Amino acid sequence: MTNSYGSIAEFYDLVARQQSASSGQVLARLVRLLPESAAPLVEIGAGTGRVTRTLLAARSDLSVLAYEPSSQMRAILTSRMWAAPDARRRVTVLPDSAPGLELPPRILAAVIFGVAGHLDSSQRQELFGKLAERLLPGGFIAVELMGSVKPLAPTRTLSEQVGDLTYEWWISGTPIDEDTMHFANAWRVLHQGKVIREVIDEHRWQVLDAEQLAAESGLRVREEIRQDDAARVVVLQA
Ligand SMILES: C[S@@+](CC[C@H](N)C(=O)[O-])C[C@H]1O[C@@H](n2cnc3c(N)ncnc32)[C@H](O)[C@@H]1O
Repeated sequence: MTNSYGSIAEFYDLVARQQSASSGQVLARLVRLLPESAAPLVEIGAGTGRVTRTLLAARSDLSVLAYEPSSQMRAILTSRMWAAPDARRRVTVLPDSAPGLELPPRILAAVIFGVAGHLDSSQRQELFGKLAERLLPGGFIAVELMGSVKPLAPTRTLSEQVGDLTYEWWISGTPIDEDTMHFANAWRVLHQGKVIREVIDEHRWQVLDAEQLAAESGLRVREEIRQDDAARVVVLQA
């Protein structure tokens, strides 16, 4: 999965705007409860930085290690952090992919949004193990979970205008087994109602629950926050 988002990086912020509304408030509340510390918060699969910006806005004393393996997604992330003097000072962008991350000896918290279902159980166990042994007292691992295992007919999930062009995001999904979905995303660019470009990307996504994360991490579920019908944030703590 190290560069599976490369082909759709140009469209990602169109989705991010929609998602930020629900997850932003949840994260901001959680981050404000963290103890003061010089240790960084780590963000796994930071994408184009939509969550990173929320983290920075929530706490002015927070520094972030933002890991993002896709060079195209990372290009947007880095230029976004560079563009804001405060973010430039507080965010370090790294190319590592989970679970093979170089981590500092101590971390304040970890945020894993839109990523956990891309990893298999042994990768998550390795990742959680590394994070848990570095977590400071009062720190947490916040994991965003999404989706359910049921067929999804092609559905237009988004339609946005940029200049003269309309961008549409279509998703269809097929269950592969009892807990894994295969998703096909089609990005269509239209001019005056006619499709002039289409980008297809496909990925597997494991639908997880809080108990499974607790078992894989050896941590307890401090809370589970429902964002909408499809998304939840699970907060794991020692
Ligand atoms: C759905 S996006 C989420 C981006 C961001 N966290 C957000 O919520 O907006 C998933 C991101 O995870 C990254 N990713 C995929 N596999 C990864 C892995 N093994 N380790 C770290 N990041 C990964 C992808 O490159 C992509 O940028």
